[in-house]
Amino acid sequence: MERGLRLAVIVGSTREARFGSTVARWFTTQAEARAEFGIDVIDLADPHLPAVLMSGPDVVVDSFRERLDRADAFVVVTPEYNHGYPAPLKQAIDLAHREWQAKPVAFVSYGGISGGLRAVEQLRQVFAELHAVTIRDCVSFHNAWPLFDADGWLREETGADVAAKTMLDRLAWWARALRAAREDEPYAA
Ligand SMILES: Cc1cc2nc3c(=O)[nH]c(=O)nc-3n(C[C@H](O)[C@H](O)[C@H](O)COP(=O)(O)O)c2cc1C
Repeated sequence: MERGLRLAVIVGSTREARFGSTVARWFTTQAEARAEFGIDVIDLADPHLPAVLMSGPDVVVDSFRERLDRADAFVVVTPEYNHGYPAPLKQAIDLAHREWQAKPVAFVSYGGISGGLRAVEQLRQVFAELHAVTIRDCVSFHNAWPLFDADGWLREETGADVAAKTMLDRLAWWARALRAAREDEPYAA
C-alpha cells in the first residue's frame, strides 16, 4: 500500500484582520479531499516565530523546523505586499535550511490585479537557493476579497478548483519522486 504524503500548508500572512486565513481554509478543504495527502497547517500567526535569526536552540523554532522536516511537500499561501511577499514569511523560510531541501513547493496566491503572482515569482528565487523544487502550476486569486462569501466559500465558479487539482497532481508527483530519491540517497548540499 502506498504511504501517504505529508503536506505542510504554510499560511504566509500574519497581518491583523488578514484575508489569508480565508484563502488557506478554502485551499485546505481542496487538499483534504485528496486521499494521498495528510495535512499539517502551519499558520505563521501561531507559532510566534522570533523576529531575529538566532544561533542557539529555541523551542518554538525547533518545533517549527520539526514540522517542516516531517513534510514531503509544501504549499505556501501568500498575499502580495508592495509587489513582494510578507516579511514574516521570509523570516520563517530563513529559520530553516535542510528541512526545505530536495522537496517540492507549490503556491496559492492572492491579492489585487496581479493575484499575488509577483510574490510567487520572487519566492521561486528564494526556494531555489534552498535546493527546493517549485511547482510551475499554482492557484492565484486576483481581486480576491469579493470572490469569497462570508463563510469562506467561493461565490461562483472561478476555475480555482481545477487549478488546485492540477497543482496538487503535480505536487504529489514531485513529492513521491523526491521522497524516493532522498531515501535512495540522502541529498547532499
Ligand atoms: C502593506 C500592503 C501592501 C500591499 N501591496 C499590494 C501589492 O503590491 N499588490 C497587490 O495586489 N495587493 C497589495 N496589497 C493588498 C493585499 O494583497 C491585500 O490586502 C491582501 O488581503 C493581503 O493579504 P492578507 O489580508 O492575508 O494580509 C497590499 C496590502 C498591504 C497591507
